[in-house]
Amino acid sequence: MARTKMIRRWRRNMDVLDDQPYVDMLTTLSEGSVRRNFNPYTDIDWDSPEFAVTPNDPRWVLTDTDPLGRHPWYQAQPLERQIEIGMWRQANVAKVGLHFESILIRGLMNYAFWVPNGSPEYRYCLHESVEECNHTMMFQEMVNRIGADVPGMPRMLKWLSAFIPLAAGPLPIVFFFGVLAGEEPIDHTQKNVLREGRTLHPIMERVMAIHVAEEARHISFAHEYLRKRVPTMRTRKRFMLSLHVPIIMRVLCSAILKPPRSFWREFDIPKSVKREVFFRSPEARQMLSEVFADVRMLCHDTGLMNPAAKLMWKLCKIDGAPSRYRSEPARAHLTVAEKISA
Ligand SMILES: [Fe+2]
Ligand SMILES: [Fe+2]
Repeated sequence: MARTKMIRRWRRNMDVLDDQPYVDMLTTLSEGSVRRNFNPYTDIDWDSPEFAVTPNDPRWVLTDTDPLGRHPWYQAQPLERQIEIGMWRQANVAKVGLHFESILIRGLMNYAFWVPNGSPEYRYCLHESVEECNHTMMFQEMVNRIGADVPGMPRMLKWLSAFIPLAAGPLPIVFFFGVLAGEEPIDHTQKNVLREGRTLHPIMERVMAIHVAEEARHISFAHEYLRKRVPTMRTRKRFMLSLHVPIIMRVLCSAILKPPRSFWREFDIPKSVKREVFFRSPEARQMLSEVFADVRMLCHDTGLMNPAAKLMWKLCKIDGAPSRYRSEPARAHLTVAEKISA
């Protein structure tokens, strides 16, 4: 009896046609996907001479927006070494991105499988999957061109990758928070690199510009999906979710931003640098706080920020003020952008 009630509730949650503003938002996103989309092989001229990857190209040196790039240890390395580390790191970020997207595509398919006939969510989820398939091809091509044999995600997460998409059917809310945990850090990092305005290798610049343009839609959808569902959750379930959201953000963000073990070994990077670079230094803490400002705003607006949840955000070291509106640029980066345009 309880189980049928649960299933009925789960099915009802997928009925969205009575919510006109939500339907309109999905229509706008789907039409946007048709109007503005990219193909990795026609929109990027991989074989043009300027896209060639040549040895000792200083454009691969990590920028100041990269936590390792701004570390004194990295900056003290000879240029050749900085380039080598930069190429490996940027190839690995692309590989992690495509691993994450592969999980996302499988999850979207699992979710869309159950969506009722006539639901505009089906069309949008499929548009997003197509775009993510294109992104994975674009990222893999970039890895191949750079030529570093990078592993991507940490091994543990690779093993779990077969199971995470299964959550998208029965537990879509948790799944879509996982989606944000992956999309927000990647998008935030790419936007900051582009805003910084430094000369990048054309492959990096083109791939990131295409990705940022399409991610805006994906992140919008995940936010709107959650804004619709979370407020109507039962109090106890919503409370439990509020405690788990910061953990999901922190765990997935670590997996995405932190290079795997083989990276530190390959380049003989001291343990002290490894410890401080991504989570302990004040700059790292500030970056982590900024990455999730939009998610904290979402949590505030949907009843997922209570005293216990706030404590969890703090324990996970990703707390801070929420954004006032989505994609509000962080003040520290605004000044950089302003300097460039001045
Ligand atoms: Fe993507
Ligand atoms: Fe995406």
